[in-house]
Amino acid sequence: MTSTTDLLHVEDLRVDIATAKGGLRTVVDDVAFSLAPGERMAIVGESGSGKSMTAAAILGLLPARARVSSGRIVLDGTELTALPPRQMRDWRGSVMGLIPQDPMASLNPVHTIGWQIAEAVTAHEAMTRREVKTRSCDLLERVGITNAASRLSAFPHEFSGGMRQRVLIAMALAQRPRLLIADEATTALDVTIQAQVLDLIDHLTSEAGSAVILITHDLSIAAGRSDTVTVMRTGRIVESGPAEVVLHEPRAAYTQMLLAASPRFDRPRKSLFPIDGSTEKASVR
Ligand SMILES: Nc1ncnc2c1ncn2[C@@H]1O[C@H](COP(=O)(O)OP(=O)(O)O)[C@@H](O)[C@H]1O
Ligand SMILES: [Mg+2]
Repeated sequence: MTSTTDLLHVEDLRVDIATAKGGLRTVVDDVAFSLAPGERMAIVGESGSGKSMTAAAILGLLPARARVSSGRIVLDGTELTALPPRQMRDWRGSVMGLIPQDPMASLNPVHTIGWQIAEAVTAHEAMTRREVKTRSCDLLERVGITNAASRLSAFPHEFSGGMRQRVLIAMALAQRPRLLIADEATTALDVTIQAQVLDLIDHLTSEAGSAVILITHDLSIAAGRSDTVTVMRTGRIVESGPAEVVLHEPRAAYTQMLLAASPRFDRPRKSLFPIDGSTEKASVR
């Protein structure tokens, strides 16, 4: 199954979490997939299906009580589960990037936007102050934040949710990672902003040639934005394959159920709702 052209190869991954009673709970079980350079993969499934734990295992960000108890995660030929934490930190941000779900929780409220972007920009490279500023402004402008130079001194609470998420995208892409993981990156945003932010992620990652793992509970987000779709349920993969096959001719009853439950998926929206942003927004959930 391993191909020398794979960027990421996950094999028989199992993640266990220590329970309060001293036992172990398996939250990811027998998960396997491969990702080619530049490929876009969606992982979909209901809340609690193990999507974030799979991502955290790849990124080396599992909570303290959780561990990879078996399997292999090979990125660019390197076995990640064997890397010391320091090296994992180097890989995160440079080779792998994460766009997290909650922009407010992920930005530090006591530091300016400029400070946080500078951290991402200089994480793996020494630069002069002037270079840092130029690069930070450039990044902000690329994610659609205008007047970047004057925004560097703003604090996260002065930005809207969509703008904060754009800052996190800028930070995640600062090093042009070969693998970008977006874990429910737009779930907290209004649906109109969601599409813009997803388009931005598509655009910037294809420009950088980054492979993408798009994690979402919403199948309509996976549609049209991913080459393959992997469906997870209670820690296991129930179905995976090319996006058009999984989304249009799903084999698993569970995938069919998810599709039926997704209000926005594959329906002629215009005939259902008037073309009015506020109505559309109200119909999302
Ligand atoms: N920090 C944690 N401690 C203990 N259990 C957790 C923790 N985070 C997640 N879990 C459990 O692991 C399982 C998988 O969670 P997760 O990967 O976050 O699901 P998803 O991202 O698909 O919503 C769930 O049953 C969840 O309750
Ligand atoms: Mg999650």
